[in-house]
Amino acid sequence: MKIIKLSAIDSTNSYLKELSKKEDLEDGLIVVAKAQTNGRGQLGSTWQSEVEKSLTFSMFKRFSKVSISQQSGITFAVSLALKTALDRLQIQEIAIKWPNDIMSYQKKLAGILVENQVQGAQLTNSVIGVGLNVNEAKFSGLPQATSMFLSTGQTYNLDEVLAVVSEAVLKQLKRLEAGSFLLMKEEYEETLFRKNEIMVFEDVVGRRFNGIVRGVAETGELLLETEADGVQRFQHKEIKMLF
Ligand code: BTN
Repeated sequence: MKIIKLSAIDSTNSYLKELSKKEDLEDGLIVVAKAQTNGRGQLGSTWQSEVEKSLTFSMFKRFSKVSISQQSGITFAVSLALKTALDRLQIQEIAIKWPNDIMSYQKKLAGILVENQVQGAQLTNSVIGVGLNVNEAKFSGLPQATSMFLSTGQTYNLDEVLAVVSEAVLKQLKRLEAGSFLLMKEEYEETLFRKNEIMVFEDVVGRRFNGIVRGVAETGELLLETEADGVQRFQHKEIKMLF
Protein backbone atom coordinates (compact mmCIF):
# COMPACT_ATOMS: atom_id res chain seq x y z
CA MET A 1 0.00 0.00 0.00
CA LYS A 2 1.50 3.35 -1.05
CA ILE A 3 1.40 6.12 1.57
CA ILE A 4 2.32 9.78 1.06
CA LYS A 5 3.19 11.41 4.40
CA LEU A 6 2.86 15.18 4.67
CA SER A 7 3.81 17.48 7.56
CA ALA A 8 1.06 19.95 6.80
CA ILE A 9 -1.58 20.49 4.13
CA ASP A 10 -4.88 22.35 3.87
CA SER A 11 -6.92 19.14 3.59
CA THR A 12 -5.86 15.62 2.63
CA ASN A 13 -9.16 15.19 0.73
CA SER A 14 -8.58 18.39 -1.30
CA TYR A 15 -4.94 17.40 -1.93
CA LEU A 16 -5.88 13.95 -3.29
CA LYS A 17 -8.73 15.34 -5.40
CA GLU A 18 -6.36 17.87 -7.01
CA LEU A 19 -3.64 15.25 -7.49
CA SER A 20 -6.13 12.88 -9.17
CA LYS A 21 -6.84 15.56 -11.82
CA LYS A 22 -3.13 15.77 -12.70
CA GLU A 23 -1.90 12.20 -12.28
CA ASP A 24 -3.06 8.67 -12.83
CA LEU A 25 -3.18 7.65 -9.18
CA GLU A 26 -2.56 4.20 -7.84
CA ASP A 27 -5.66 2.47 -6.49
CA GLY A 28 -5.68 2.61 -2.69
CA LEU A 29 -3.15 5.46 -2.45
CA ILE A 30 -3.19 7.06 1.02
CA VAL A 31 -2.25 10.60 1.99
CA VAL A 32 -1.73 11.21 5.69
CA ALA A 33 -0.97 14.60 7.24
CA LYS A 34 0.45 15.52 10.62
CA ALA A 35 -1.50 18.78 10.46
CA GLN A 36 -4.38 20.11 8.37
CA THR A 37 -4.85 23.87 8.07
CA ASN A 38 -8.30 23.65 6.49
CA GLY A 39 -9.66 20.23 7.41
CA ARG A 40 -13.10 19.78 5.89
CA GLY A 41 -16.09 18.05 7.45
CA GLN A 42 -19.55 17.14 6.28
CA LEU A 43 -22.06 19.72 5.02
CA GLY A 44 -19.35 22.36 4.63
CA SER A 45 -18.20 22.22 8.26
CA THR A 46 -14.56 22.33 9.36
CA TRP A 47 -12.61 19.49 10.94
CA GLN A 48 -10.26 20.50 13.76
CA SER A 49 -7.43 18.20 14.72
CA GLU A 50 -4.56 18.41 17.16
CA VAL A 51 -1.12 18.08 15.53
CA GLU A 52 0.41 14.61 15.94
CA LYS A 53 -2.40 13.49 18.26
CA SER A 54 -5.01 12.94 15.64
CA LEU A 55 -5.10 10.74 12.56
CA THR A 56 -6.11 12.61 9.42
CA PHE A 57 -5.85 10.75 6.15
CA SER A 58 -7.54 10.19 2.80
CA MET A 59 -7.58 7.22 0.49
CA PHE A 60 -8.01 7.29 -3.30
CA LYS A 61 -10.12 4.33 -4.41
CA ARG A 62 -11.11 3.33 -7.92
CA PHE A 63 -14.28 1.37 -8.66
CA SER A 64 -15.21 -0.64 -11.69
CA LYS A 65 -18.32 -2.44 -10.51
CA VAL A 66 -20.23 -0.02 -8.30
CA SER A 67 -23.25 1.80 -9.78
CA ILE A 68 -24.35 5.23 -8.57
CA SER A 69 -27.48 3.65 -7.08
CA GLN A 70 -25.10 2.00 -4.60
CA GLN A 71 -23.07 5.12 -3.77
CA SER A 72 -24.25 4.95 -0.17
CA GLY A 73 -22.40 1.63 -0.03
CA ILE A 74 -19.15 3.58 0.34
CA THR A 75 -20.52 5.22 3.49
CA PHE A 76 -21.67 1.82 4.79
CA ALA A 77 -18.28 0.28 3.98
CA VAL A 78 -16.12 2.97 5.57
CA SER A 79 -18.34 3.26 8.68
CA LEU A 80 -18.28 -0.52 9.14
CA ALA A 81 -14.52 -0.52 8.61
CA LEU A 82 -14.04 2.05 11.38
CA LYS A 83 -16.28 0.00 13.66
CA THR A 84 -14.28 -3.19 12.94
CA ALA A 85 -10.91 -1.45 13.32
CA LEU A 86 -11.90 0.21 16.60
CA ASP A 87 -13.28 -3.07 17.95
CA ARG A 88 -9.95 -4.64 17.05
CA LEU A 89 -8.13 -1.86 18.90
CA GLN A 90 -10.40 -2.66 21.87
CA ILE A 91 -12.20 0.66 21.97
CA GLN A 92 -15.55 0.00 23.64
CA GLU A 93 -19.11 1.05 22.90
CA ILE A 94 -18.67 1.89 19.22
CA ALA A 95 -21.75 2.90 17.26
CA ILE A 96 -22.36 4.61 13.93
CA LYS A 97 -24.36 7.80 14.22
CA TRP A 98 -26.11 8.30 10.90
CA PRO A 99 -24.81 8.98 8.39
CA ASN A 100 -21.17 8.39 9.33
CA ASP A 101 -20.08 9.72 12.68
CA ILE A 102 -18.27 7.10 14.71
CA MET A 103 -19.18 7.25 18.37
CA SER A 104 -17.64 5.76 21.50
CA TYR A 105 -19.53 6.05 24.79
CA GLN A 106 -22.00 8.37 23.02
CA LYS A 107 -19.34 10.90 21.99
CA LYS A 108 -17.84 11.48 18.55
CA LEU A 109 -14.56 9.68 18.00
CA ALA A 110 -14.23 9.89 14.22
CA GLY A 111 -15.71 11.53 11.14
CA ILE A 112 -15.74 10.46 7.51
CA LEU A 113 -15.89 12.61 4.39
CA VAL A 114 -16.48 10.68 1.17
CA GLU A 115 -16.26 12.57 -2.13
CA ASN A 116 -17.36 10.54 -5.13
CA GLN A 117 -16.65 10.95 -8.81
CA VAL A 118 -19.24 9.50 -11.20
CA GLN A 119 -19.42 8.86 -14.92
CA GLY A 120 -22.85 8.06 -16.37
CA ALA A 121 -24.42 5.50 -14.07
CA GLN A 122 -21.11 4.30 -12.63
CA LEU A 123 -19.09 5.38 -9.67
CA THR A 124 -15.53 5.76 -10.97
CA ASN A 125 -13.55 6.72 -7.89
CA SER A 126 -13.84 8.12 -4.39
CA VAL A 127 -11.67 10.14 -2.09
CA ILE A 128 -12.35 8.78 1.36
CA GLY A 129 -11.27 11.05 4.21
CA VAL A 130 -11.07 9.90 7.81
CA GLY A 131 -10.45 12.04 10.88
CA LEU A 132 -9.91 9.90 13.98
CA ASN A 133 -9.22 11.35 17.41
CA VAL A 134 -6.43 9.23 18.82
CA ASN A 135 -4.29 10.69 21.62
CA GLU A 136 -6.11 13.94 22.49
CA ALA A 137 -6.47 14.44 26.24
CA LYS A 138 -9.06 17.23 26.00
CA PHE A 139 -11.30 19.05 23.52
CA SER A 140 -11.85 22.73 24.29
CA GLY A 141 -15.34 23.83 23.35
CA LEU A 142 -16.32 20.42 21.93
CA PRO A 143 -18.22 18.65 24.73
CA GLN A 144 -19.43 15.90 22.42
CA ALA A 145 -15.97 14.84 21.19
CA THR A 146 -13.82 12.01 22.49
CA SER A 147 -10.58 10.23 21.61
CA MET A 148 -9.20 6.71 21.84
CA PHE A 149 -7.02 7.92 24.73
CA LEU A 150 -10.03 9.32 26.60
CA SER A 151 -11.83 6.05 26.00
CA THR A 152 -9.11 3.70 27.28
CA GLY A 153 -6.40 5.75 29.04
CA GLN A 154 -3.79 4.38 26.60
CA THR A 155 -1.72 6.23 24.01
CA TYR A 156 -1.40 4.85 20.49
CA ASN A 157 1.12 4.90 17.67
CA LEU A 158 -0.55 6.79 14.80
CA ASP A 159 1.14 4.65 12.09
CA GLU A 160 -0.15 1.47 13.71
CA VAL A 161 -3.67 2.86 13.98
CA LEU A 162 -3.49 3.93 10.32
CA ALA A 163 -2.45 0.41 9.30
CA VAL A 164 -5.39 -1.21 11.15
CA VAL A 165 -7.94 1.32 9.87
CA SER A 166 -6.79 1.38 6.24
CA GLU A 167 -6.69 -2.41 6.05
CA ALA A 168 -10.26 -2.55 7.37
CA VAL A 169 -11.40 0.09 4.84
CA LEU A 170 -9.92 -1.83 1.91
CA LYS A 171 -11.49 -5.07 3.12
CA GLN A 172 -14.99 -3.57 3.40
CA LEU A 173 -14.67 -1.87 -0.02
CA LYS A 174 -13.74 -5.24 -1.54
CA ARG A 175 -16.92 -6.73 -0.07
CA LEU A 176 -18.91 -3.90 -1.66
CA GLU A 177 -17.30 -4.52 -5.04
CA ALA A 178 -18.03 -8.23 -4.68
CA GLY A 179 -21.76 -7.45 -4.45
CA SER A 180 -22.43 -7.42 -0.68
CA PHE A 181 -24.25 -4.06 -0.72
CA LEU A 182 -27.48 -5.30 0.92
CA LEU A 183 -25.69 -7.34 3.57
CA MET A 184 -23.50 -4.35 4.39
CA LYS A 185 -26.56 -2.10 4.64
CA GLU A 186 -27.99 -4.55 7.20
CA GLU A 187 -24.74 -4.65 9.19
CA TYR A 188 -24.61 -0.85 9.13
CA GLU A 189 -28.21 -0.67 10.39
CA GLU A 190 -27.38 -3.06 13.24
CA THR A 191 -24.74 -0.71 14.60
CA LEU A 192 -26.76 2.52 14.31
CA PHE A 193 -26.52 4.84 17.31
CA ARG A 194 -29.77 5.07 19.31
CA LYS A 195 -31.61 2.74 16.96
CA ASN A 196 -35.19 2.00 18.07
CA GLU A 197 -35.07 4.61 20.85
CA ILE A 198 -37.28 7.67 21.05
CA MET A 199 -35.03 10.66 20.40
CA VAL A 200 -35.50 14.38 19.76
CA PHE A 201 -34.76 15.64 16.24
CA GLU A 202 -34.59 19.13 14.79
CA ASP A 203 -35.46 20.04 11.22
CA VAL A 204 -34.04 22.88 9.07
CA VAL A 205 -36.49 25.46 10.44
CA GLY A 206 -35.67 24.57 14.04
CA ARG A 207 -38.83 22.58 14.69
CA ARG A 208 -38.25 19.84 17.27
CA PHE A 209 -40.05 16.53 17.31
CA ASN A 210 -39.73 13.00 18.63
CA GLY A 211 -38.66 10.23 16.29
CA ILE A 212 -37.31 6.71 16.28
CA VAL A 213 -34.42 5.64 14.02
CA ARG A 214 -35.54 2.46 12.25
CA GLY A 215 -32.79 2.06 9.65
CA VAL A 216 -31.68 3.49 6.33
CA ALA A 217 -32.94 3.32 2.76
CA GLU A 218 -30.74 1.97 -0.05
CA THR A 219 -30.05 5.61 -0.94
CA GLY A 220 -28.51 6.05 2.52
CA GLU A 221 -31.40 8.28 3.68
CA LEU A 222 -32.45 7.91 7.31
CA LEU A 223 -35.69 6.02 7.98
CA LEU A 224 -37.23 7.84 10.90
CA GLU A 225 -40.55 6.96 12.47
CA THR A 226 -42.66 9.76 13.91
CA GLU A 227 -46.01 9.53 15.65
CA ALA A 228 -47.66 11.89 13.20
CA ASP A 229 -46.29 10.62 9.86
CA GLY A 230 -45.10 7.02 10.28
CA VAL A 231 -41.74 6.15 8.70
CA GLN A 232 -40.26 9.01 6.65
CA ARG A 233 -36.98 9.36 4.74
CA PHE A 234 -34.58 12.17 5.56
CA GLN A 235 -31.39 13.43 3.93
CA HIS A 236 -28.45 14.53 6.03
CA LYS A 237 -28.99 18.27 5.51
CA GLU A 238 -32.66 17.98 6.50
CA ILE A 239 -32.39 16.74 10.06
CA LYS A 240 -30.27 16.63 13.20
CA MET A 241 -30.48 14.31 16.21
CA LEU A 242 -30.30 16.12 19.55
CA PHE A 243 -28.79 14.11 22.35
C1 BTN B 1 -17.18 15.02 9.59
O1 BTN B 1 -17.46 14.33 10.58
O2 BTN B 1 -17.71 16.12 9.42
C2 BTN B 1 -16.18 14.47 8.61
C3 BTN B 1 -14.80 14.82 8.98
C4 BTN B 1 -13.76 14.26 8.03
C5 BTN B 1 -12.37 14.78 8.36
C6 BTN B 1 -11.30 14.13 7.53
S1 BTN B 1 -9.69 14.50 8.14
C7 BTN B 1 -8.96 13.83 6.70
C8 BTN B 1 -9.83 14.26 5.54
N1 BTN B 1 -9.44 15.56 5.05
C9 BTN B 1 -10.36 16.50 5.25
O3 BTN B 1 -10.27 17.70 4.96
N2 BTN B 1 -11.44 15.94 5.85
C10 BTN B 1 -11.25 14.53 6.06
